[in-house]
Amino acid sequence: MLKNKQQYAQITAIGGYLPTQKRTNADLERLSDTSDEWIIKRTGIKERRILEDGLATSDMAVAAIQELCTSYQKKARDIDAILIATSSPDMPMPSTANIVCEKLQLSNVWAFDLNAACSGFLYALDMGAALVETGRYKNVVVVGADKISSFVDRTDRSTNILFGDGAGAVWLEPSPETGILDALLLSDGKGVDYLNIKGGGTQYPYDATDWNAEHRYLKQDGKVVFKKAVTAMSTACKELLQKNNLSIEDVHWLVAHQANKRIIDAVGKELGIEEQKALNNITYSGNTIAATIPLCIWEFKHQIKKGDLLLLTAFGAGFSWGASLLQWNI
Ligand code: ACO
Repeated sequence: MLKNKQQYAQITAIGGYLPTQKRTNADLERLSDTSDEWIIKRTGIKERRILEDGLATSDMAVAAIQELCTSYQKKARDIDAILIATSSPDMPMPSTANIVCEKLQLSNVWAFDLNAACSGFLYALDMGAALVETGRYKNVVVVGADKISSFVDRTDRSTNILFGDGAGAVWLEPSPETGILDALLLSDGKGVDYLNIKGGGTQYPYDATDWNAEHRYLKQDGKVVFKKAVTAMSTACKELLQKNNLSIEDVHWLVAHQANKRIIDAVGKELGIEEQKALNNITYSGNTIAATIPLCIWEFKHQIKKGDLLLLTAFGAGFSWGASLLQWNI
């Protein structure tokens, strides 16, 4: 592999958090006209985790960072930048990253949120890596966190089957050797009508007297999203590999956004990667939006070896999509 940077950003620690409360397929059978058999066949999902009322996205981000600190003997007070990828911030203002700083008692930290829907973690990872590569920041924490259950109508079978809550975090530090190698991140506006949460922003502000319930929840055209997700993720992966003179045989692990097991399988097939190299943890956590990729790596961290090449790929609302290449260093 060509060494093309003076300084790399390395992932030196990873953490995760999944709420304890489960929403199983049996629960969904009681809430809507669906069946365990249909959900498993069409999505591969058996249950999702739901954060309890009264807690917010920042609580899961904090829990993921704390789990990381405990597992890798890191100290939160050493963090000098926090990027939170989320589409479900605690509130419009201030950023969830600021609230996380308060909960971790951090000050003088460069902290903000980034919204690129399900591609958010890859966007934030690329930005965090750039901060480290410039030498300006040395301990950058990148989090993907979403309490998407707040925006999912639990009685709507077209969406309730897919989504769950969670958070994953990585710690980035500089290294002259290797680490995050390259990324290709793209977006357009063609997906606005196919995947959205319309209400609560400036176009359809929340109004207690005139609130359109339709705008409150996540809506999607599942078929359009499915097809576009497979094409966009596999094309981005192929282009990124080609740009780096690599082939799919060089990749030890493919970590695709955990949207639907059939989407993950289709991307793996299109890329021609061996099935056991395409990681998935969707069965027991569902689609956790910006958290799926760090949570999936976290779950398989004992299988991934130092030096392994990881190909990450995501697709989300916007549309937004892309791929990242990194060498694992833990
Ligand atoms: N339970 C039982 N039957 C259902 C359900 C359900 N939950 N949902 C739909 N059906 C029925 C339909 O009415 C239809 O019946 P019909 O044949 O009699 O008309 C039949 O099942 C097939 O419905 P489809 O909508 O064609 O099912 P499909 O195979 O497309 O699966 C799904 C739907 C699971 C939503 C799929 O399209 C999908 O996963 N799309 C991608 C969605 C996604 O990943 N979104 C997020 C990605 S980006 C991000 O993470 C923000």
